Amino acid sequence: MTRPDYAEKIPNNVGLAEDRRLQRALESWQPDFLSWWETMGPTLPTQDVYLRTAIDVRGDGWAQFGHVPMIDYRWGIFLADRNADRRIAFGQHKGEPAWQKVPGEYRAELQRLIVIQGDTEPASVEQQRNLGATAPSLYDLRNLFQVNVEEGRHLWAMVYLLHAYFGREGREEAGELLHRNSGSQDSPRILGAFNEETPDWLSFYMFTYFTDRDGKYQLGTLKESAFDPLSRTCEFMLKEEAHHMMVGTTGVDRVVERTAQVMVENDTDDVAALGAIPLPVIQKYLNFHYSVSLDLFGGETSTNVANYYTAGLKGRWLEERRKDDHKLTDDAIMVDALVDGDISQVEVMALTGLNTDLRREYIADCAGGVKRWNRILADAGLPQRLYLPHVAFNRKVGAFAGIEASPAGQKLTAQEWEQAKGQWLPTDTDKTFVRSLMHPVYERGKIAAWVAPPRNGINGQPFDYDYVHLA
Ligand SMILES: [Fe+2]
Ligand SMILES: [Fe+2]
Repeated sequence: MTRPDYAEKIPNNVGLAEDRRLQRALESWQPDFLSWWETMGPTLPTQDVYLRTAIDVRGDGWAQFGHVPMIDYRWGIFLADRNADRRIAFGQHKGEPAWQKVPGEYRAELQRLIVIQGDTEPASVEQQRNLGATAPSLYDLRNLFQVNVEEGRHLWAMVYLLHAYFGREGREEAGELLHRNSGSQDSPRILGAFNEETPDWLSFYMFTYFTDRDGKYQLGTLKESAFDPLSRTCEFMLKEEAHHMMVGTTGVDRVVERTAQVMVENDTDDVAALGAIPLPVIQKYLNFHYSVSLDLFGGETSTNVANYYTAGLKGRWLEERRKDDHKLTDDAIMVDALVDGDISQVEVMALTGLNTDLRREYIADCAGGVKRWNRILADAGLPQRLYLPHVAFNRKVGAFAGIEASPAGQKLTAQEWEQAKGQWLPTDTDKTFVRSLMHPVYERGKIAAWVAPPRNGINGQPFDYDYVHLA
């Protein structure tokens, strides 16, 4: 079965109608999800939004676009097609058929991996819930809501796995995913970056560039999983995720483009008074979102992750394209470390260094964005450049959590850090300034002064299309 069935109460391509118990369990979770969406989802009242909805899991025409009231969005369960011959690509079970059921010995670990991934999806909806009030254009407003409904669907994707394969404990965890909340004192979301606020649209673009991109890499490792339903779930989520990163990449493009334009037109770096965001402020936001996203990859070394790999639960990014034995028992890797208190590297077993391997893939990908943004500056004839800060900068997890370092990678004393950090991370003044620019522009074809319009609209529609009808 490939095409989702929309005649069902819960659209799906997993044959839900043939499993009455599972269907009933998910149908009883559905109202809880909807009430979570109403209380914790987007706050701006709308009539309808030009949204894409999945109608297939493969090919170019997998999504259909149309104006839908958000509460009527058909959140569903869509897995990529099953490959009946799929074999495990790595670890001690390499070459064996992929698992269609959860092996008893890996049950707890697999459940934990799914819960952690699942927790991030509704968290970002919560973080972004008030952004509609200050959208710079209807186009941006539509993209925000598209990201939000799809993160909601990603929650469905993980909840399906918990309900279908993890029994009563899985159902309890699915309930908890709606009860933890981003930034809550009593029951926060599991990972740090998902408890930070996303108070303005520069943060939103940075979040969708850097933090959604972390999601891409985590999903990429789960797509390799020997547990086939998890692999197929993540494969389809990655298809949707690409749009979220496009929103981030082009969002930052457009901020940089507008800033560059105002700098050139007025022959000044000081564009704040002219209603644009100064490059140093953009750099500080980049520094913050990049460094908290690096933390999401965990410590440089991890025996848990080594065990996940050996067991076949979680692979490497593009596992099957790697040219090695896919077991890594005899290999080594250099990882970041403090050596005699200095920022340095040490050699460890490749298996325990897998978090570092994944973080490096991510860093190389992030560098692509910086290159694009610098091309915009260069094309405008400006000498300034943006950069990714050093991996030791502003870290709260891993080898550098206990030290302070400059964006150039120079170790600092606590006092030096306190004195200088306002040059590198957004200060209250910077945040207040950025927030002061955030006025909603809801008129068709109009855009706020701090950001350039997009080059292309959505689904071939022009920029001035009526992407959202407000209530
Ligand atoms: Fe997601
Ligand atoms: Fe996403």
